[in-house]
Amino acid sequence: MLNETFDTLILGAGAAGMMCASHAAARGGRVLIVDHAKSPGEKIRISGGGRCNFTNIGTSARNFLSKNPHFAKSALGRYTQHDFITLVEKYGISYHEKTLGQLFCDNSAKDIIQMLLDEMARHGSEMRLNTRVAEVQQNGSGFSVVLEGDGAARIQCRNLVVATGGKSIPKMGASGLGYQLASQFGVAVTETRPALVPLTFGEDMLAGFREIAGVSAPARISCGKTSFEEALLFTHRGLSGPAILQISSYWRETQPIRVTFLPGTDIAGALCASKRTHGKRSIATAIGEILPKRLASYLAELHKWTGAMGETSDRKLGEIASILQGWEVYPIGSEGYRTAEVTLGGVDTDGLDSRTMESKAVKGLFFIGEVVDVTGWLGGYNFQWAWSSGWAAGTAI
Ligand code: FDA
Repeated sequence: MLNETFDTLILGAGAAGMMCASHAAARGGRVLIVDHAKSPGEKIRISGGGRCNFTNIGTSARNFLSKNPHFAKSALGRYTQHDFITLVEKYGISYHEKTLGQLFCDNSAKDIIQMLLDEMARHGSEMRLNTRVAEVQQNGSGFSVVLEGDGAARIQCRNLVVATGGKSIPKMGASGLGYQLASQFGVAVTETRPALVPLTFGEDMLAGFREIAGVSAPARISCGKTSFEEALLFTHRGLSGPAILQISSYWRETQPIRVTFLPGTDIAGALCASKRTHGKRSIATAIGEILPKRLASYLAELHKWTGAMGETSDRKLGEIASILQGWEVYPIGSEGYRTAEVTLGGVDTDGLDSRTMESKAVKGLFFIGEVVDVTGWLGGYNFQWAWSSGWAAGTAI
């Protein structure tokens, strides 16, 4: 087997790995990045419906979940969303803000992948695809890594950067390698679970949800003290849409989630006004004036709101409004890693230096990106973490 020496070997040519590779190579070291997939940045390619929500203008550590909520501050503060936007602009990639500070490419997510590849090539980072990691051992001068596949070799490196991502979407190359390496080197891993994922429901609720699959409505979704106001979508399997994906990171089994339709709207007032002008209307029809009609019919049937508006007391309309703005439903689970956008939890930040992402116990071993226990909200935050943590490790090497 061919023996080769590099200063830095990066495992995983995704968002964080590629960002790290260009910055590590820019500092003059010999850098190799490997991936078992046949193309780099596959998750970037499919992200944001093919347009990549590459960052969020409002990114701060508040938009992330972690056992240590302060850990992400250093990297996010030193390589910010504005630094990444400057890079995107330098490459002439046009973009737009969709909503809530979310920046998307005008053209294609492939523009971001090409930019990262160009940055790596500019600084002389080498890349090998279709290459698997067979064995990793620590030795006196760093690490010895056996690679198999197209890039087969025994690599000796001073720095080993683990950028293998999380567990979501296994068919796109997600593997447990990062967590395995953490445990091999005695670096703790917090409990992991699918996040930014649709929630599923028991047959009692599903029968109704199926009837209105495809219907979406503006809502505030709350779990405990956390709430998100975005769209809610009914599906054949349960509930989805941005508001549900957001709350899924906070929801735990047996907890209810609370749905507030039309947050900030005086539904009771609207129904009472409707009663006075259209007394013959059914309750479902009146609700259908302010919410999608199919949703209104479903909710009226579920709660047995029958009769005409004119025959319904204002008190009863007040009760209906309270239910529409405080509907508690009990998910039974989530769609799991098959559709989750990210993995919650990961390499325990207690074991990492927040400035460099280097393991405190194992010199030369770095963890970056999604494999680390730093998980962003929906909206470009996860890529910003990949860029910031990749930059932090790359510039520290
Ligand atoms: P990433 O998963 O990007 O890269 C890891 C790399 O390691 C992969 O290339 C993989 O093949 C490789 N690898 C894994 N195991 C290996 C092994 N054993 N050997 C060799 N290589 C291995 N975020 C956001 O901010 N905005 C968005 O628009 C979206 N959209 C989105 C859509 C969908 C469908 C998903 C699934 C996810 C998103 N995300 C997102 C989340 C975002 O994609 C994610 O947080 C980042 O890609 C994480 O970057 P990493 O580099 O850490 O992992």
